[in-house]
Amino acid sequence: MINALRVGYSVIRYRGGIGQWAWGVNRVAGLGLLAFLGLHIFDIFLLGFGPKLFEELLFLYKGPVARILEVFLAFGLTYHGINGVRLIVMDFVPATARHHVKMFYIQLIIFFALFVPAGIFMLKEFFDVGGGIIGTLIVLALPLIVAFAANLAPTSGDNVQVSNGNYAAATRETASARGRAPSGSEFWLWLFMRVSGLLLILLAFFHFFVMHFVIGVEKINFAVIVERWTDPAQSAFWRTYDALLLFFAFTHGVNGARMVISDYFHSPGWRAFLKIGLFLFWFVLMGMGMFIILTFNPGMIK
Ligand code: HEM
Repeated sequence: MINALRVGYSVIRYRGGIGQWAWGVNRVAGLGLLAFLGLHIFDIFLLGFGPKLFEELLFLYKGPVARILEVFLAFGLTYHGINGVRLIVMDFVPATARHHVKMFYIQLIIFFALFVPAGIFMLKEFFDVGGGIIGTLIVLALPLIVAFAANLAPTSGDNVQVSNGNYAAATRETASARGRAPSGSEFWLWLFMRVSGLLLILLAFFHFFVMHFVIGVEKINFAVIVERWTDPAQSAFWRTYDALLLFFAFTHGVNGARMVISDYFHSPGWRAFLKIGLFLFWFVLMGMGMFIILTFNPGMIK
């Protein structure tokens, strides 16, 4: 526990420059996405208890505060996704790590191009009344803070952001390499993080686009989801899609959290305790999510 606090403090103190900021925001975004996904699986499970309970809980996603949280979600998914692709490129083509600063700025341009219009669209209804400018400023402020923090961060060198296992790039380009190449199950989990990350660029971005821009969170209700899962023309597609999204996103996120635990908790007791808890979290929520996606039918509601 003390170790975790020490590592947390060293993250603030350590002068790693852009690589450190890219990594820090990536980590916070990944954990934030996982926390949201946990809540989301739980509310989708409630579909099985009928429209009343489900729609009562939807207040969580509606209204001005939810709109602002939705912008944070868009921020996290867009940043983490694009940054993840940059990491994957550096992992598989280590020579590119030399250009990590340039790559980070290209990443920021893509990020701005996607996030700023998305954020303004999400907030438009709430800031329509003469206040569109406030919404726009909020949306612009988030990426600007990241860009400026990365730029102004005091640096003790030109450290590249290292992902677990980016060993070739890490040992050549930075003093803060995490160590030996993974072997056995760690190697497969390392590969899984990359394959699932790339699949999630398709699965999670398309899901987000349909739910938040095509349908719109304010219009989502029990009937919308039930139609997707029961209409014979769409049911097979959406149930398969949702099951794949759930499996890859939740497993990727939980394994990411496992890596974070390994980074901060060095006492065997704490590590084992937290990892068993994390595994139970994965097992129970994965079971609930798969159960409702694959077996939902209106007849199951009492
Ligand atoms: C949208 C596409 C995504 C891509 C391309 C992506 C990519 C990556 C990559 C490359 C890593 C580094 C893995 C390593 O160091 O071995 C990572 C870590 C992580 N990802 Fe994702 N990811 C995506 C979506 C998600 C989602 C939806 C979640 C949450 C459910 C998530 C949660 C995490 C967490 C918690 C970590 C660990 C962070 C750390 O070690 O600092 N990711 N991701």
